[in-house]
Amino acid sequence: MRRLDGKSALVTGAARGIGKGFAAAFLREGARVAIGDINLKAAQEAARDIGEGAFAVELDVSRQDSIDAAIASVVDQAGKLDILVNNAALFDAAETVDITRASYDKLYAVNVAGTLFTMQAAARQMIAQGHGGKIINMASQAGRRGEPLVLVYCSTKAAVISMTQSAGLNLIKHGINVNAIAPGVVDGEHWVHVDAMFAKLEGKAPGQKKAEVEAGVPAGRFAVPNDLTGMAVFLASDEANYIVSQTYNVDGGQWMS
Ligand SMILES: NC(=O)c1ccc[n+]([C@@H]2O[C@H](COP(=O)([O-])OP(=O)(O)OC[C@H]3O[C@@H](n4cnc5c(N)ncnc54)[C@H](O)[C@@H]3O)[C@@H](O)[C@H]2O)c1
Repeated sequence: MRRLDGKSALVTGAARGIGKGFAAAFLREGARVAIGDINLKAAQEAARDIGEGAFAVELDVSRQDSIDAAIASVVDQAGKLDILVNNAALFDAAETVDITRASYDKLYAVNVAGTLFTMQAAARQMIAQGHGGKIINMASQAGRRGEPLVLVYCSTKAAVISMTQSAGLNLIKHGINVNAIAPGVVDGEHWVHVDAMFAKLEGKAPGQKKAEVEAGVPAGRFAVPNDLTGMAVFLASDEANYIVSQTYNVDGGQWMS
């Protein structure tokens, strides 16, 4: 018996990176997994890579019609929805005096409103099914403390931690466990983009910011998505039935509870 046998999961932003790693891990543990992503072609490729039991769903978490259609499509294809991972997010960095309304609106639409309203749509479906469920939100160490050039992203991840607390307290009466994971730094395409942004903002050579950040990780290295999948599978499984509203640091020792 695998830990997620018979379960149906939706992972948002799962066409690459951490979300793709979670989707593959859920499949290995017996779940059917929907790869929800704004980039449908990449989601379809990811589903093919991951294997039978994974399927792509077009999803823009910043649009309510897209959220509703994606949840309906998962239920149509997998029969139900038991697990949601709110993983899709955007990053930006700027001097405080240079932050634009456009950047603020975009990050809040995806990281905050996207997380809230995907969580809401999934919870409505889980309540209608009557068997509870598991919701995992992706926070970040950036949500624990501000950073000089990362005001907007940090504040969205602080909001994710707060929403996890409130939604968890509200939804546990339906048997829905809402918890979050706060990674530190995870290697992948996201960090290519982050390193390039800091190179520009701080006048660093390409790769320099990443090397400096890595040197500050107590575990001595960036994470890879598989460093986080154990926590995700655990929180998605019945082993986590008594865990409510928590945010777990999986960050190589960068932050302590
Ligand atoms: N990589 C890190 O170092 C790190 C650290 C802490 C937290 N996190 C968090 O972990 C999660 C995954 O990070 P990652 O590094 O794998 O990200 P990533 O940028 O590699 O992947 C994000 C995915 O989300 C999709 N996406 C973007 N906008 C979307 C939208 N509106 N609707 C649906 N999908 C959308 C993208 O197409 C992409 O496939 C994010 O929530 C991120 O904030 C990452």
